Amino acid sequence: MDATDMGQDLKSILVDEAELDQRLTEMAAEIDRDYVGREILLVGVLRGAIMVMADLSRKIHTPLKMDWMAVSSYGSGTKSSGVVRILKDLDNDVHGKHVLIVEDIIDSGLTLSWLRKNLESRGAASVQIATMLRKPEAAKVEVDVAYVGFEIPNEFVVGYGLDYAENYRHLPFVGTLAPHVYGG
Ligand code: XMP
Ligand code: MG
Repeated sequence: MDATDMGQDLKSILVDEAELDQRLTEMAAEIDRDYVGREILLVGVLRGAIMVMADLSRKIHTPLKMDWMAVSSYGSGTKSSGVVRILKDLDNDVHGKHVLIVEDIIDSGLTLSWLRKNLESRGAASVQIATMLRKPEAAKVEVDVAYVGFEIPNEFVVGYGLDYAENYRHLPFVGTLAPHVYGG
């Protein structure tokens, strides 16, 4: 899928393909520097993180394994409440592992803050976070994120794994939608 397929539904491109690729290369290099001599367990948060997981992992040289979790934040509509339910748990024990959580976007930060505590409580040797995007709201919650791709404005975004009503996940860039898409 590309911008042409979006027609009038695309408002703007916030982060294009080349920018994503360039930043992921830099993040992978930082990760390689930080994890020398350790094996990483990349934990992708389904489903939004699939693109970041696929592209970031292929740029990392450090030995790693991958696992996946799916979580849902209870709460009304688009606001996350911080009360998290595990929809799909990890397939492997994280005890003694160096866990690096891979996320598409951090908004309130509540989901990740919960997830980090959860994985730490299972005895992970370390738990760090890598996210492609971060919204300004995240600054309000104390969640230390080691690797951030891009700081973006407080707007709803789609593409590169992120959806609106399950659409647009396969856009290769991060963009915003025209108001009419939301019925506005
Ligand atoms: P927190 O707990 O950090 O939740 O508020 C982050 C989760 O919220 C979703 N989210 C978005 N999804 N476009 C999306 O498609 C957005 O602009 C957006 N902002 C937040 C997403 O599921 C993320 O994991
Ligand atoms: Mg979503």
